[in-house]
Amino acid sequence: MEQAVLKRKDKGVERVLIEADAVQQRVRELAAELDRIYVHETPLLIGVLTGAITFMTDLMREMDAELKVDFMAVSSYGDQVTSSGAVRILKDLNENIEGRHVLMVEDIVDSGLTLQYLLDVLQRRDPADIKVVALLRKPKAEALAVQTDLVGFDIPDEFVIGYGLDYAGRYRNLPYIGVLDPAEIEVTKSKTAILSQTPPLQDQ
Ligand code: PRP
Repeated sequence: MEQAVLKRKDKGVERVLIEADAVQQRVRELAAELDRIYVHETPLLIGVLTGAITFMTDLMREMDAELKVDFMAVSSYGDQVTSSGAVRILKDLNENIEGRHVLMVEDIVDSGLTLQYLLDVLQRRDPADIKVVALLRKPKAEALAVQTDLVGFDIPDEFVIGYGLDYAGRYRNLPYIGVLDPAEIEVTKSKTAILSQTPPLQDQ
């Protein structure tokens, strides 16, 4: 990124993929579409922690429909850059979804495996229906035809960060969607290698 606009939190961003204004504009459009879908219903918006927090809070404030919110936390096994597809529920819903109109809110559908797993789990709880809104979708998920009723942006298969999305827990507070500088992955890997070679602290 250009040096003149570089803030501390921008460091490690190779380039901006979707500007903050464009993200906000698309969120407003998605909210308007959802208001048209849920004219008579009170949907339960389910956010998948942690990445979906920013999208969820912006989306719900743009929506006019009466709605409720709940969150799930899942953990996918694998390294930090790719997802292995094995999913474990770390925090389940507070709400009973039987007979409810559920709207899954995802920041990104990459391989689609997390979403597919969650859809299978939630369908077994007999909701009236489940829809999915994802801010970002990568080509793999599109090819696998994972259910995504509304998509903000179809993006190329690059490692994206910002607007809730992280790399190693960082960058969630960027207001735009950026592409991670591959050099940052190398830096983090070598830092991890150095740390793992460091002998553990002795008891005092
Ligand atoms: C991200 C994202 C989705 C999932 C998508 O979560 O929020 O839930 O990966 O990947 P998939 O389509 O390949 O399954 P992540 O596991 O990185 O956790 P986080 O939301 O806490 O960052």
